[in-house]
Amino acid sequence: MSCACGNAQESSARYLAPLQSIFSSYSDEESSLIPILQDAQDQYGYLPQDVLKAIAAHLGLSLGKVYGVVTFYSQFHLKPRGRNVIRVCTGTACHVRGGAEVLKAIEKKLGITAGGTTTDLEFTLETVACIGACGLAPVMMVNDDTHGRLTPETVGMVLDAYRSHSGAVSNPAAQGARH
Ligand code: FES
Repeated sequence: MSCACGNAQESSARYLAPLQSIFSSYSDEESSLIPILQDAQDQYGYLPQDVLKAIAAHLGLSLGKVYGVVTFYSQFHLKPRGRNVIRVCTGTACHVRGGAEVLKAIEKKLGITAGGTTTDLEFTLETVACIGACGLAPVMMVNDDTHGRLTPETVGMVLDAYRSHSGAVSNPAAQGARH
């Protein structure tokens, strides 16, 4: 049953209000769809359905068309993402040096599998084919930071540092290998 008091409508309007300033930065043409989606994702952290509906209505596009674009580009996300995005390398060099065990240790520690996000929205866990740091294998990236020579025993400590701080943490193994 829907609420008749108007509060739901009001909170929805408040939730969608940031879209108005995004819309005002672009034309109402279909060519504005991608930049509007990018700005909306920056604003909300992902692209909720109500936001996609509002964008479709604003540009006079079908919701299906907007979904088609969102699902085509990997930069767009339909589900909430963690504050920290972990990318564990599953490339050959990392695999032969224990990357699979490192991934398992992360999954166990966070209680999620690759592709998932923790319920506290601290971490999203993804896998990637190769991040070009094979000499440091096994490797993961957390946000923009590269961590190498990981072991199932050490990886938890690296993640703990991200849980309590928003900045980068140092990894002696990776640092040492760079110099
Ligand atoms: S295979 Fe992992 S960084 Fe290249």
